This record gives sequence, C-alpha cells and structure tokens, in this order.
Amino acid sequence: MNYDWILDRGYLPQVVIQYGIRRQLQDRIRTIHSTSLEETYKTKMQYVKALRERPMAIETKTANTQHYEVGTGVLQACLGPRMKYSCCLYPTGKETLGQAEVEMLEQYVERAQLVDGMKILDLGCGWGSGALYFAEIFPNAKITAFSNSSTQKAYIDEQANSKGLSNLKVITGDVVDYEFEKEAFDRVVSIELFEHMKNYELLMAKISRALKPGGKLFVHIFTHKTTPYDFEEGLDEYAFLYWGYDAEYGSATLFPTRAQVARPVVGEWEALC
Ligand SMILES: C[S@@+](CC[C@H](N)C(=O)[O-])C[C@H]1O[C@@H](n2cnc3c(N)ncnc32)[C@H](O)[C@@H]1O
Repeated sequence: MNYDWILDRGYLPQVVIQYGIRRQLQDRIRTIHSTSLEETYKTKMQYVKALRERPMAIETKTANTQHYEVGTGVLQACLGPRMKYSCCLYPTGKETLGQAEVEMLEQYVERAQLVDGMKILDLGCGWGSGALYFAEIFPNAKITAFSNSSTQKAYIDEQANSKGLSNLKVITGDVVDYEFEKEAFDRVVSIELFEHMKNYELLMAKISRALKPGGKLFVHIFTHKTTPYDFEEGLDEYAFLYWGYDAEYGSATLFPTRAQVARPVVGEWEALC
C-alpha cells in the first residue's frame, strides 16, 4: 500500500518524518556493516554488471513532475540567490547560503580546471547556478547549459538577459536521446545529474563524443563511499528533498574506466571528480 499521500499533504509533523528517515538510515547502515567485505564486493560487482545492461536513465519524465517542473517560484522560495540545486560548501560553517553557493562554484572552477576562452557544457544545469557563474567570470568562454526542463531554460535565459551575458546558450532535451555536437567542448561539467543515470557507460561514451581531444569531464555526484544502491520508495524520497524515482545512490567506483569507455569512441577524455 502506498502512503505517499499522507506525507505529501503534510499530515505528519516534521519530527515524525525525521524519525522515520533516521530509522531507515540506521537499517541501511546496519545492513552495510553486517555484510562481509567479500559479500559487499560481490554485490557491488553484480550491481555494476546490472547497470551496464540497463538503459542510460529511467523514469526521466517522473523526475520532472516531481521537482524540475514544479514551478520556478517554489524553488526560489527554498534555494539560495544563485538557485543552486545541489550541495554547497561551508568551509567555516559560518557562511550564509549565498556564500556557500559561491564557495562550491569556486571549487568547481579550480577542480575542473576551467579557464576563460573555453567551451564548457554544463550538463544538468538546473536553474543555471554553474552556467551563469561561469558565463559571468569567463566573458570569453562559450557556455552551453543543458537540461530537460523548459522552466529552467526560461529562468536562465531571463537571468542571462538581465545580466547582459551573451556567451551562454541553453538547450532543453533529454540526455538519453540528445546527441551533442561532436568534439565541441573543452570541458563537460556535471553537477548532480549522474544520480539520475543508470548506465554510466552509455552516458560517458556520449560525453566522450562531445569532448574535444584532450577535453575533460568533471563530475560532482553524491554517493555512498562503498555501497551503491537504487532509490527505494518510502522515506528514501524524503531523505533528500523528495529526490526522485529515477535516482540512484551510487559509489565513485561505479564509473567505467577510461579504457572501458574510450574504446568505441573517437577522442580522449579524463574524469575529474
Ligand atoms: C539536482 S539538479 C542539479 C542542477 C544544477 N547542476 C545545480 O547544481 O544547481 C539535476 C539536473 O539534471 C537535470 N536532469 C535530470 N535528468 C535529466 C535528463 N534525463 N536529461 C537532461 N537533464 C536531466 C535536471 O533537470 C536538473 O537540471
């Protein structure tokens, strides 16, 4: 039986929901800790094999109705000034949300080795936190923002217009069936989109085709450090802002190696995590 409507309509007090989430997390941690290393490794390898046999992503439309097309105003009421719909960085713990957004964006610039003049694809751009920031600080760069939400595009276009940015274009499409221009980008930067994906091999082959020779992919993904698992119905949904039916809590070692992905494609890539 599905009890989502009780949660969705706000009948349960926050404290009860938090208790439920904590219980569920404790169960998960107990299962992980009580499993032998050998068993964990075996399960993970089975999971990796299963991912390779799955489509690139599932239920892509459900994620849109659950959060990406709920209306920009709803998200504006919750997010920081840059509308960053992903983790922020609090180096001292005293930062405001707006400062923490910028702290994280600065880290991306450093870790993804972004410099002015590059062609950069922000894959899974949300409301443009990354794309608008890169366009602002790199006036000679060409930024392409990509997501499957037309309300996100409308918001980013409006912001770019009001800031006078002409080096940013926004494309709306589903990464599953969209094919990017070949060898077009120096960098692909993807902030919390990979959680929506299942078959990384297909996704990274697609990204590889879009990168110029020597281009690099930077990925920010939230993961469990050892144990990947699929989203499960129930309070999992509330554990991360009602995350989504398509989601996966991966682990970094799920990414295929360069050799595995690069074989069938032209060009080279390097993953920066
Ligand atoms: C968690 S949000 C992160 C947004 C943004 N990178 C940020 O940090 O604010 C994930 C983004 O991926 C996009 N996305 C999810 N599934 C997608 C798909 N199948 N094709 C294209 N974009 C997708 C969503 O619309 C959203 O923009």
